[in-house]
Amino acid sequence: MLTLASLFLFPQFKTKADDGMWIPLLLKKYTIDDMRKKGFKLTAEDIYSINNASMKDAVMIFGGGCTAELISDRGLIITNHHCGYSSIQAHSSIEHDYLTDGFWAMTDGEELPNPSLSVTFLVRMEDVTAQVLKGIDEKMKESVRAEIIKKNSAEIEKATAENGKYLTEVTPFFYGNQYYLFVQQEFKDVRLVGAPPSAIGKFGGDTDNWMWPRHTGDFSMFRIYVDKNNKPAAYSPENVPYKPKKFFPISLKGVKKDDFTMVLGYPGHTQEYIPSYAIKMITETENPARIAVRQSKIDIIAADMEKDRGVRIQYSSKYAGISNSWKKWIGENRGLARLHSIEKKEAFETDFAKWVSGDKNLLSKYGTLLVEYQDVYKNLSPYALASDYFFEAIWRSEIIQFANRSGGLTNSKDLPKDIEALRKYSEGFFKDYNFETDKKLFRKMIEMYYRGAGKDFQPELMKFVNTLSILEIAENEAFDVFTNHLYQNSIFTDKQRLNSFLDGLTNDNLAQLLADPIYKFYRDFTAFYVSKIRPENDIAETKIDSLNRIYMKAQIEMDTARNLFPDANFTLRVAYGKISDYEPVDGVIYKHYTTLEGILAKDNPEIYDYNVPQRLKELYKAKDYGQYAENGEMHVCFIASNHTTGGNSGSPVINANGELIGVNFDRNWEGTMSDIMYDPSQCRNISLDIRYALFLIEKFAADKRLIDEMLLIK
Ligand code: ARG
Ligand code: GLU
Repeated sequence: MLTLASLFLFPQFKTKADDGMWIPLLLKKYTIDDMRKKGFKLTAEDIYSINNASMKDAVMIFGGGCTAELISDRGLIITNHHCGYSSIQAHSSIEHDYLTDGFWAMTDGEELPNPSLSVTFLVRMEDVTAQVLKGIDEKMKESVRAEIIKKNSAEIEKATAENGKYLTEVTPFFYGNQYYLFVQQEFKDVRLVGAPPSAIGKFGGDTDNWMWPRHTGDFSMFRIYVDKNNKPAAYSPENVPYKPKKFFPISLKGVKKDDFTMVLGYPGHTQEYIPSYAIKMITETENPARIAVRQSKIDIIAADMEKDRGVRIQYSSKYAGISNSWKKWIGENRGLARLHSIEKKEAFETDFAKWVSGDKNLLSKYGTLLVEYQDVYKNLSPYALASDYFFEAIWRSEIIQFANRSGGLTNSKDLPKDIEALRKYSEGFFKDYNFETDKKLFRKMIEMYYRGAGKDFQPELMKFVNTLSILEIAENEAFDVFTNHLYQNSIFTDKQRLNSFLDGLTNDNLAQLLADPIYKFYRDFTAFYVSKIRPENDIAETKIDSLNRIYMKAQIEMDTARNLFPDANFTLRVAYGKISDYEPVDGVIYKHYTTLEGILAKDNPEIYDYNVPQRLKELYKAKDYGQYAENGEMHVCFIASNHTTGGNSGSPVINANGELIGVNFDRNWEGTMSDIMYDPSQCRNISLDIRYALFLIEKFAADKRLIDEMLLIK
């Protein structure tokens, strides 16, 4: 708590709470003093520098949505098990079940290439607000404004890409009040080095996901390969391990309560500055619908996975994805309710209105903001609901995605080539496809859409429900009949049917594709969404974008005492905080770390998520922890008050000396509302204690060569 007296003592500092995801380029200007006051021993230049090697050179985007970091001078990287999951899975089959058994390359030669995986480093960033907003006049129509910004951004991106050497991107901050250019470098030869068995890397599974106390050994390891000149290159057996500018030394000293910690990584999306109307729509309309749809999917998939080991392998990754957001939304809704977030925002809006009404100039700029927000959310709400149902129940369905993918054939410029590509794609699709499971899902999803999306949002094709009722078929059965018809006749539900269709496909009989019942369903439903749901959504979203930009500007103007951080936008950020326990409910304190003891306490061979591997039990019995124990105990995970979100998975957790102490992988359930409202007393990020990973590598996997290439600080 900042008292009045302390305000006078530090008049030069703006107040700082624990929340925040700061822009690396601006640390020196705004943040580093506070970081150092809280224990950080290094400089802003040590984190972000364009002249010298700095931490940013050791942190990367991993795949589409995670973070990873370099931990050796031979391009070795560590990220989460759940981030490497799809790569590990792609190499897995019933014969080589790396998901279940783990995978460890004992030599460079055994490391496995991953054609669809790449990592991306930030080379530099730059404030380009002035150039991007050149030619903008505040009175312009939004569409004109957007056009100019797009054009200006494209020019900057092109001019700085050095003919394809870099990936460049101009990204809005503070809802378009600022713009930054990101110059990035992509590496495409990234090989799988090691992963513990899922019984460790995913220990606790979806049961423990988003929860503290936690015991997940959520890490996997990869290596970046480059050409002989240490430059990024497509996969080649001739490539060699990357020699980086910077990698993280690893601390074996562990963490104590109140220690300074910092997380560098790529947080994806937060909405800290939205009005009460937005929170109302999210918590009362959108989250409940999404939660319900995913609950149904989870029930269906879980039951089939339980029955069949093949289905478990096929659907484990899909299941984890579905369940992850489902559980987060539940936690988010609870947290927002517990925080009285709507009332808090309303109170803020009352203050805001007062502030505005006290000044003529403010009144003319911001006087109608809140009413406009109220209107637009009122209009948007039914469309947002229909849209959520469309995406969650229809569009995300695997079979619909498959149909969508094959839609490209209809306007193909090179049909034989596209047919081959689809054939290849279908191999992967059918490897992880179970007809019965998918059919049940489809059946349930069309019903959920029908019942949930609203009367005004039913496409023609949903009329089958009424049509069949003429034949005295009950609603419930109508969904069965319809689904059976689609699934028994479509080319997308059967590999052989698909292949023989593709065998006979020429430009002359492409129309057959349009006659396929699933293809037709996909096409008609999508066309309905595009014509009847999306337009109103887009209109409202454009309006909201513009209101957000103005409201954000106003909030910055109003809140002169606080240094506001821009919402996450999947650009590199620095969050800092401290190792910290918390009180989830009155009278209970959750400690800041967990140990191997807790894994054994959860052990239950009957339950998939808690089946501790024999070898781990033996190591535990022998207390064979090597140099990685603390007072005879093996620490597994710890929590701290760093403000993180999705995308921060795999992020390095750094101590005051810039050494790696952990790998971020989750948040606590009580704190998942931090994407919308942060509560310092409840919000914690969950990290893997790096010593547990090292112990597993050395003792469990016996892959000592990996330990030998790291720099351990004892
Ligand atoms: N909750 C973490 C995150 O948001 C981990 C997700 C992966 N694990 C899982 N059991 N689904 O990504
Ligand atoms: N597990 C999340 C991820 O994959 C990070 C946890 C969070 O959302 O904070 O990015």
